[in-house]
Amino acid sequence: MGHDQNLRDRLRALPVFPNELPRFDTDAAPAEPLALFVEWLESAIAAGVLQPHAMSIATSSAAGVPSNRTLLLKDVDDTAVWFASLSTGPKGTDLAVNPIAALVLFWREQGRQIRIVGRVEPGPREVSAKDFLQRGAPARARAIAGRQSEPVEDFAAHLAPALALVEAEPDFAPESWVAYRVIPDSVEFWQAERERDQVRLRYRRDGDGWTTDILWP
Ligand SMILES: Cc1cc2nc3c(=O)[nH]c(=O)nc-3n(C[C@H](O)[C@H](O)[C@H](O)COP(=O)(O)O)c2cc1C
Repeated sequence: MGHDQNLRDRLRALPVFPNELPRFDTDAAPAEPLALFVEWLESAIAAGVLQPHAMSIATSSAAGVPSNRTLLLKDVDDTAVWFASLSTGPKGTDLAVNPIAALVLFWREQGRQIRIVGRVEPGPREVSAKDFLQRGAPARARAIAGRQSEPVEDFAAHLAPALALVEAEPDFAPESWVAYRVIPDSVEFWQAERERDQVRLRYRRDGDGWTTDILWP
């Protein structure tokens, strides 16, 4: 540990969650975890949580080296949650060799966390292209330049030809922009509660359905 007792004391004294937290009635939880995911997401949006669609996505390399980053949730359907990114950068390379990801969404204003582990698949080409074309021109140009996560020396010089392409061909969507679907094998919902500490409900895939467990906090 560091030497700054004062910092340790201040960290310990920081408030953790607001006084008012939503209740989590696990008995009323739906049979499908993604139905509960959407319920919680709608509640976070309605409560004004800042960037409720920001989620951490951990991948790991062929050598087993993990890495993690924040991405935006793009959609939730009956079977998957969606994000979009370049397939040519580090996360795309990880997913090509090890198509499994661990996701976390943390809504501090509501004392809620959702964890998902699942298989990752590239979605259909037209979904990726549609997602790409909904991005602004600078974001499209950055993706076309295709250098995500590489050291950059002359950003403007590398971006210029991609910007020109975006202007000349406004419907162009590169193959490297991919909308990925994460098909969960396990989804855990965590709710902080003042009186009861924490409530955790985990769904695990079981044949065509799901088994649930309440987990020790
Ligand atoms: C709030 C937030 C949202 C982000 N959304 C995306 C996104 O939707 N897609 C994306 O490729 N990168 C997004 N990023 C950038 C990623 O965190 C990351 O820096 C980038 O994708 C490179 O990751 P990689 O080197 O692991 O491949 C976002 C970052 C933040 C902080």
